[in-house]
Amino acid sequence: MPKVKFVQEKKEIEVAPGANLRTEAMKAGIELYEGPDRLLNCRGFGMCATCTVWLKNDTAKNAGPMGIHERIRRALGFWALGHEEECRLACQTKVMGDLEVWTRPGYNWFGETAAAPAAKPSAPAPVAKPAVAASAAPSSAASAAPSSATAAPKA
Ligand code: FES
Repeated sequence: MPKVKFVQEKKEIEVAPGANLRTEAMKAGIELYEGPDRLLNCRGFGMCATCTVWLKNDTAKNAGPMGIHERIRRALGFWALGHEEECRLACQTKVMGDLEVWTRPGYNWFGETAAAPAAKPSAPAPVAKPAVAASAAPSSAASAAPSSATAAPKA
């Protein structure tokens, strides 16, 4: 049974060979669409390209062949620039082997070929804690340790 790994969602499912990627993703609760596209997509008819995914790490070869309709639809958008071999419409993709899927890759206006899409704005980067001044946080370990100013030999 082929395994489909949804990288951003950190979820892996097993599907029957030849299964439709969009159908299986939706069954597993994976969100393929952003914002209003959740309601305004074409329901899997290959018309809107809102279900675009990237099949990463050379797993695109494990998907069924791309049809002429999908090639034309994909060529009309900017999604595939720099990712021509790995960019697929989930609703038109058959799972024939293990896949590593990046959902909602976003627009790729300039054809960057980064290893992974940029982080989503909904997933903010962790905020570093501000450094606490030594005088503001007294501790016995900190006060017992010699500071670099006192440990340095005087000239
Ligand atoms: S759902 Fe519209 S192209 Fe896939």
